[in-house]
Amino acid sequence: MKKQILSLIILAFSVYSNAQSTAKPELYRPNYHFTPAAHWMNDPNGLVYYAGEYHLFYQYYPEASVWGPMHWGHAVSTDMLHWKHLPIALYPDSLGYIFSGSAVIDYNNTSGLGSKLNPPMVAIFAYHNPRLEKSGSNQYQYQGMAYSLDKGSTWKKYNHNPVVPNVEKLRDFRDPKVMWDAQIKKWILTLAAGDEVQFYSSSNLINWKKESGFGKNIGAHGGVWECPDLFPIEVKGSKEKKWVLLVSINPGGPNGGSATQYFVGNFDGNKFTPDDTQTRWLDYGKDNYAGVTWSGIPSTDGRRLFLGWMSNWQYAEKVPTENWRSAMTVPRELTLVNSSTGYLLASNPVREIAKVHSRSVVIQPRTIHNNVDITNLVPFKLCKTELIINLKIGEQRPAKFGIKLSNGLNENLIAGYDNTTGQLFVDRTQSGKIGFSKDFPAIVTAPCKLDNNTLQLHILLDEASIEIFAQQGKVVVTNIFFSSQPYSKLSFFSEKGTVKATGIKIWELEKAM
Ligand code: FRU
Repeated sequence: MKKQILSLIILAFSVYSNAQSTAKPELYRPNYHFTPAAHWMNDPNGLVYYAGEYHLFYQYYPEASVWGPMHWGHAVSTDMLHWKHLPIALYPDSLGYIFSGSAVIDYNNTSGLGSKLNPPMVAIFAYHNPRLEKSGSNQYQYQGMAYSLDKGSTWKKYNHNPVVPNVEKLRDFRDPKVMWDAQIKKWILTLAAGDEVQFYSSSNLINWKKESGFGKNIGAHGGVWECPDLFPIEVKGSKEKKWVLLVSINPGGPNGGSATQYFVGNFDGNKFTPDDTQTRWLDYGKDNYAGVTWSGIPSTDGRRLFLGWMSNWQYAEKVPTENWRSAMTVPRELTLVNSSTGYLLASNPVREIAKVHSRSVVIQPRTIHNNVDITNLVPFKLCKTELIINLKIGEQRPAKFGIKLSNGLNENLIAGYDNTTGQLFVDRTQSGKIGFSKDFPAIVTAPCKLDNNTLQLHILLDEASIEIFAQQGKVVVTNIFFSSQPYSKLSFFSEKGTVKATGIKIWELEKAM
């Protein structure tokens, strides 16, 4: 009863704050990125598609705008952009807080928790027991299960939790991601165990057998491994099937703090064998963490759809938003492409982004030398836009080139290419409010090869975020920022040389939430 009352209060508050937001927009509230109506959010959880709806559960603390006893918040959408807030799905219980995990539709009712006519939606998540942690035990994290027989509206915890006990007494043992392996006809569960992952198999989602571990001497190990995701994917343009393993790591990211690495290889139902030992990063920005992919996407669609938490544990609790903290990235489609350096996992905004397209403008090609201000060619505000720009190096090779967003306070955000290092960069050292954490002001860099001397930029801008998908999503950089006033000026720059800006198209995006 207490829980239902809390849900009602939160729902009422969300309706109230939505009404407020139409009255007076909240500073930094995104236009088309998911945020909780109020209070703290971190990782996306339980991403599952069912009966025409994309479900998004998320790590949620409903009593404050900092991390606390974790619940699973819940929202649904038919296009991953317009979200409807729903009551909290999972509350902490005597076994602990509800940490990250996943959800699947058990179509064949292998668990026996529903029926074939009404298959259960099953959530498998990590329990974190603070009481056991304090008592000095090492077995305070283990995996639990809950299910819903009404499309995720109401949930029941499984009677005999935990389903995966922590027999090896690992202090970090969490974030189970479950998938149906059609080849071996079993469920596979991947979880983070210290700075490795472990794979388990099951025929019924209840009894799990450990298959193997992966990661001891491979990949980045600057921090603990979290939120893994294992899935098969076809190489773009061929019928070849590979397996991808996403692993978030904190700290130890390429630009400091939290980030997500991935491995490409094969999985035979027992072991994951990577193709090589290269460390690869899904996104070089500071603000894409704990991202995982949706389960249950119909084969007629066939996409691998991803969502990440758009923040970084270095400063997530200190960012200057007061009523809520954190947003999710834009939903992205992942594709595996064959490049000269091996397989690469590319990310691009989902095509549904077109659902929030409003006006657009095409800007004629122009040669850039020093600075060229194009503000007066864009007849709408810059803080909710999608931009496509190609920048081709001219005869005189510039040292640096790119775009600059700025406001009347001389605050700016610069995104560009450094020819001397061969890196894409985003400079937020003068982006506005930066003093809340020493780790926030940064020049984020990503190795980036130009194609035919051209930098292809696809950019999504919102009130407090920039997501750059360069070279058709092969190089991705996601960063948040907090300008004291919205950026109102847009210019191109090219230092000590020229670039030609072509194919420039900018869309105004509608408010989706
Ligand atoms: C990742 C993470 C997970 C954990 C959750 C707790 O950001 O640390 O490993 O399950 O957040 O909120």
